[in-house]
Amino acid sequence: MERGNGGQNDLPFGTGLIGDTDSFTRRWQKLFTASDFTLLSKGKVKRESFQDKVVWITGASRGIGEVLAKQLATLGAKLIISARNEPELERVKKQISDLNLGKHGLEGVEILPLDLSSGEDAIREVVEKAISLFGGAGVDYVIHNAAFERPKSTALDVPESSLKATLDVNVMGPISLTRLLLPHMLKKGRGHFVVMSSAAGKVPAPGQAVYSASKFALNGYFHSLRSEFYQKGIMVTVVCPGPIETSNAPDTTTSGQKSVKEKRVSSERCAELVLVAASHGLKEAWISYQPVLAVMYLVQYMPSVGFWLMDKIGGKRVETAAKKGNTYSMNLLFGGKKE
Ligand SMILES: NC(=O)c1ccc[n+]([C@@H]2O[C@H](COP(=O)([O-])OP(=O)(O)OC[C@H]3O[C@@H](n4cnc5c(N)ncnc54)[C@H](OP(=O)(O)O)[C@@H]3O)[C@@H](O)[C@H]2O)c1
Repeated sequence: MERGNGGQNDLPFGTGLIGDTDSFTRRWQKLFTASDFTLLSKGKVKRESFQDKVVWITGASRGIGEVLAKQLATLGAKLIISARNEPELERVKKQISDLNLGKHGLEGVEILPLDLSSGEDAIREVVEKAISLFGGAGVDYVIHNAAFERPKSTALDVPESSLKATLDVNVMGPISLTRLLLPHMLKKGRGHFVVMSSAAGKVPAPGQAVYSASKFALNGYFHSLRSEFYQKGIMVTVVCPGPIETSNAPDTTTSGQKSVKEKRVSSERCAELVLVAASHGLKEAWISYQPVLAVMYLVQYMPSVGFWLMDKIGGKRVETAAKKGNTYSMNLLFGGKKE
């Protein structure tokens, strides 16, 4: 592990972005294909942004949230970890302690069970508990990471229960939590919301219309909130990842066959990039391999061409998803071999 880089941190995960011995060229190649140009230019995580700060992570019982918790512990943060599944949160806490991650040990991790679909009154109680932890230190960062499951189907095939659950967990819950916590942050004169949105919050996501709607809603809400409160010390970093490799990433078909492997950024690398973006105060960051990153640029800067492209591949993408094929393949555009 490298040290002494002017306050910037090296994490010991060996993923190539931070803290392993990859050559300079390989690092740049990896960076170039995994994030937008602004994030690419920022380099490493600033340790001082997180050291001894209280960071509340929702959805920390698995996936990217779990990895974020471990990396933040290593950076010296005090953690509040939330999700519905308490035994899984206990497991994450124990691993942080067993692996000796960070300087605070078991005392540095508080478990705070939370169901984001439980309504404002229940969330108010959880927020009150959160600000009373660590001797009433309050919360410096919230990472809005939890999300409802996201199977792929056409907009017509989404049952009302799934529609409601997606909007409750992905939109209503995070907004309630934010509304309830924000006055406490304003009293302290600072606070930072890191919002795990998605590429599906920037571009059409055929097969994931409701998930996409929930992420567009988050982007609109949190960019607006920042513009209202930025001058009062409130920061928002909206992160838009493309496909990320987690334990939940699709692997097998319903018939038990191995599915076609999609090229996904590892959850370790995604988490590192999230922390780079937040510690450098970026307002928005994109994390993905190609071709998703290129499509994001296209839709952002040449929307007519981007929407034309998405309309061309949308139907095929839904069919490919049903067959558990590669839904990010260039073959969706050019035909090519069946997947
Ligand atoms: N993975 C990707 O490819 C990808 C791509 C783009 C964006 N993202 C975004 O990145 C974030 C993390 O993704 P992930 O793949 O790591 O997710 P994941 O593995 O599906 O984990 C979701 C987390 O949310 C929690 N959760 C679900 N329902 C909840 C509820 N009602 N209340 C509180 N917590 C709840 C889950 O814990 P419990 O079940 O214990 O509650 C779990 O910890 C999400 O916002 C996702 O939209 C992911």
